[in-house]
Amino acid sequence: MITLNNNIFNIETKNSSYVLAKDVCLHNVYWGEKVHGEDLTYLVKERGHSSFDPNLNLERDEYSFWTSYSFLESCLKVSYPEIRKLDMIYIDHTIETISKDLERLSFRYKNSYSDLYVTLVYDVYAEYDIISRYAEIFNDGEEVIVENLKSASVSVPKMDQYRVKYLTGKWAAESQINDQYLTTGNFTLQSRSGNTGPHFNPSFALDNGSATEDSGNVWFGLLGFSSNWQISFERTIYNNVKITGGISNFDFMYTLKKGESFKTPVMTFGFSSGGYGEMSRKLHAFEVEHIFPKKKLGRVLYNSWEATWFDVRVESQKELAKRAAGMGVELFVIDDGWFGQRHNDRAGLGDWYVNQDKFPNGLSEFISYVKSLGMDFGIWVEPEAVNPDSDLYRAHPDWIYRFKDQEPLQARNQYTLNISKKEVKEFIIDFMSKLLSENKDITFIKWDMNKALTDVSLGNTAQDKELWYKHAKALYEIWADLRAKFPHVEFEVCSGGGARIDLGILQYSDQCWPSDNTDAYERLFIQEGFSHFYAPRIMTAWVTDASSDNGRKYCRPYSYRFHSSMMGMLGIGANISKFSDEVLEEFKKYIALYKEIRETVQYGKQYRLSSVRESSLHAVEYVSQDNNEILIFAFRQGYQFGGVNPNLVLNGLDPNALYQVEGMEQTLHGSTLMKIGIETSLWGDFDSQLIRIKRV
Ligand code: GLA
Repeated sequence: MITLNNNIFNIETKNSSYVLAKDVCLHNVYWGEKVHGEDLTYLVKERGHSSFDPNLNLERDEYSFWTSYSFLESCLKVSYPEIRKLDMIYIDHTIETISKDLERLSFRYKNSYSDLYVTLVYDVYAEYDIISRYAEIFNDGEEVIVENLKSASVSVPKMDQYRVKYLTGKWAAESQINDQYLTTGNFTLQSRSGNTGPHFNPSFALDNGSATEDSGNVWFGLLGFSSNWQISFERTIYNNVKITGGISNFDFMYTLKKGESFKTPVMTFGFSSGGYGEMSRKLHAFEVEHIFPKKKLGRVLYNSWEATWFDVRVESQKELAKRAAGMGVELFVIDDGWFGQRHNDRAGLGDWYVNQDKFPNGLSEFISYVKSLGMDFGIWVEPEAVNPDSDLYRAHPDWIYRFKDQEPLQARNQYTLNISKKEVKEFIIDFMSKLLSENKDITFIKWDMNKALTDVSLGNTAQDKELWYKHAKALYEIWADLRAKFPHVEFEVCSGGGARIDLGILQYSDQCWPSDNTDAYERLFIQEGFSHFYAPRIMTAWVTDASSDNGRKYCRPYSYRFHSSMMGMLGIGANISKFSDEVLEEFKKYIALYKEIRETVQYGKQYRLSSVRESSLHAVEYVSQDNNEILIFAFRQGYQFGGVNPNLVLNGLDPNALYQVEGMEQTLHGSTLMKIGIETSLWGDFDSQLIRIKRV
């Protein structure tokens, strides 16, 4: 509920208060546990400061327009030919009910000396304690250059300490959890690679250093943008902490002509008083309801990549498909290698015609075969990139990013296409539309992107600085177009693993590929980090040979690999054509089991019972939406000192209800399970268990 009293805007969500005052600026009075927001008028007063120091009254500004007297990170900075400062005057505000779950508060501003308008929007999802924010700029006057443009900033209450939790990573090691205590100064998470990036994810959680998985106040945020972004945390000399997020300042400039407008990416903020676990559950539920495109049960897929690499020939794929269908796979996906002269990563990217040597009778014959086995069909594409050794590049060398007369960088032997160019965008939409309309049984696209953006130039320095943003915008437009034209097709976002995971692209994707690392144990670390901010419903995880006892460094039993992959969207990526009947049977059994429990995994409430980073016994619990089914995935890594396991102490149950633990005769109360817990039978290295519990 949003109310206004004495210039105080009180945004009340289910468990939080977000209170704003409109005085010298739009000022954040309070954000945190629920209070009577209307009381807070006593906190709104003019505060003095010396002539040397920053204006204390602007410290908690919700959207700082650069006025020449703003020393903190600003949200909007523009340049006219003669004046660089802004003087934004409040015009009005509106409060609207958009739907049963969504109320919107908007503030309108106008620059005093030009026809530049800014609207600040707060979308309040009260049920989840989440507020999504963005700004819209409209220029009705002379041309203006925007140099710095953020989605939003927000302040947290003053505390003794501020700890930021965030995800870092690199290829094959994404989503690693980091903690950082803020000292006075500026701490920034960012991407300058033209993509969301694997190095930092645009998400954070902040607390006073005492929050745990199950307790304490946590303020969190996620930016939905798949190009250069930044989230900065400024701890000021007055001990305020202000968090500002949006498009990165780095190499950014945008010209707005008369009549043009610009909508920033959306920054989503939220509050949890129940620690990191509650934060994640709120986010998971919010994403499922309000971000992801569809609410459907995810299919068990098979992907050919790690089995046949680039050598995807119809015979080998048929063998894989036959075996995949036999074990209960629902969706068969051909990965890289099916097109052009794509026999390795040095050629063919960009040539989106079926390779006749590999599929002499075209794709349709193979798709029909897959359908006849009772499976759906999906296919891999990487439309934003091109190999120099391709017909596409030979025909259109001017379609890639490059500085004038300079040789662009190749990585994985590829260049990046400037998809914001009209003809390139049309080319992608056309070839994808042709592929999907000629093959109506393609119901799944894995969309990859295997290189950071470099050489981002058209040879015009001013316009070049718009390209980073325009690449992401064009990408979203292409996906939106394809999704509208082919509503039966689901999309998976992949970028050499998890380099493009953010709430921007996830509005268009049904699932994502969090990492190219498919080792079942290392994956648990990636999945744990991922789960802090993103829902299991979109987290694809394959059982592969990476963990095999095959001379490589890992040795994990199949049970362990399945349990690890069943914690999200189960897929198979192993070379199953080499498997004995016995192993095929084992796979079949696990896939059948996953189908029984997947609704709870994909749409249930997740509780991280013990961290893989902190304990040799790692356990994650899922509670079904109706609270009747409980699943626990438990993993034991190294066997040490006689190997006594701690009990598994559950969470999220009704203390007075009775529960039946699979394999136990006696029923137990929720209180017992949540205070004392159950014993596990885990034994030895890399053992794992799925424990199923029913409410009786
Ligand atoms: C990337 C993806 C992999 C696979 C290969 C194909 O690395 O992350 O899953 O699709 O490309 O080249």
